[in-house]
Amino acid sequence: MLVLGIESSCDETGVALYDSVRGLLAHALYSQVAMHNEYGGVVPELASRDHIRRVLPLTRQVMSESGHTLSDFDGIAYTQGPGLAGALLVGAGMARALAFALNIPAVGVHHLEGHMLSPLISDAPPEFPFVALLVSGGHTQLMLVSGVGRYTLLGETLDDAAGEAFDKTAQLLGLGYPGGPALSKLAATGDANRFSLPRPMLNSGDFDFSFSGLKTAVLTLVRKAGLTQAADIAAAFQAAAVEVLVSKSLAACKGSGASRLVVAGGVGANTHLRAQLTREAAARGIDVFYPRLEFCTDNGAMIAYAGAQRLAHATRDLTFAVKPRWELATLDAA
Ligand code: KG4
Ligand code: ZN
Repeated sequence: MLVLGIESSCDETGVALYDSVRGLLAHALYSQVAMHNEYGGVVPELASRDHIRRVLPLTRQVMSESGHTLSDFDGIAYTQGPGLAGALLVGAGMARALAFALNIPAVGVHHLEGHMLSPLISDAPPEFPFVALLVSGGHTQLMLVSGVGRYTLLGETLDDAAGEAFDKTAQLLGLGYPGGPALSKLAATGDANRFSLPRPMLNSGDFDFSFSGLKTAVLTLVRKAGLTQAADIAAAFQAAAVEVLVSKSLAACKGSGASRLVVAGGVGANTHLRAQLTREAAARGIDVFYPRLEFCTDNGAMIAYAGAQRLAHATRDLTFAVKPRWELATLDAA
């Protein structure tokens, strides 16, 4: 089954072609990061308009790279939510129109399901069940995954998402938007032990997170120490955030009896998180699986992959609606 996947939930337009037998055939991405950087964050109306400009050229690109034409498609997957309503409508409208014209099925995919299954786009994918640490700009969740659509929420952030905490801290340090990658780069040059920052909810005994207090502690530290110490502050923040993420993820594996951990979402690209997790998990006999680096942040490949799993079981339905807010744990099993 050849599936076109379209991602347009936020500030990246991603398109990909996934074949359920041959695997990922092509993927293309356009990031709007430079455009939104000027405003210090995503401007929804500008995002929607840019998705409109990019989605067709990117679709043509994956078709020409893979050597496939429209008539080869068996189905179309698009991000249905959660995300920005106008941005979601671009991908949804395009996918539904194309599917209608080609007389093939279209399926709306949960953006976080796309992220969570992205490590499965691999020659050596993890087997179910596994614990998934979802760390994106908008969400931080620990899920027990027993199959496609079989998700049990173990814990989540009570306030800011991990990526949001990276972005807000980066902003405090004058690093622009989105700040995660820049903060991580700066942290690599700093001394993580120079300043000590709190590890929120480290010993709370559950699998929930809280990052807003950490951000406030950074603000206080910046006021006291000043921006000349920015690299050390970045390193201290990253060490604190990563320690909590690692500790809770391993506790969730232990608590659920899982021996496999999957990390997905933009913060999964963080090299310090990857190094710490891999080391600590190995010491406990837990295998950690990451998506390819380029599939940590938003992309079309994860939507095409998740869509292919869902289309294999889908019934035909021509109506559609986007879901700007959508809880992952409410999905049906595939
Ligand atoms: O998954 P994603 O592309 O978008 C959402 O679905 O939210 O995640 C974007 C988030 C941003 O907050 C960005 O700063 C963060 O992932 N991020 C990182 C790194 N790369 C991206 N955070 C820390 N270290 C990184 N290397
Ligand atoms: Zn995302």
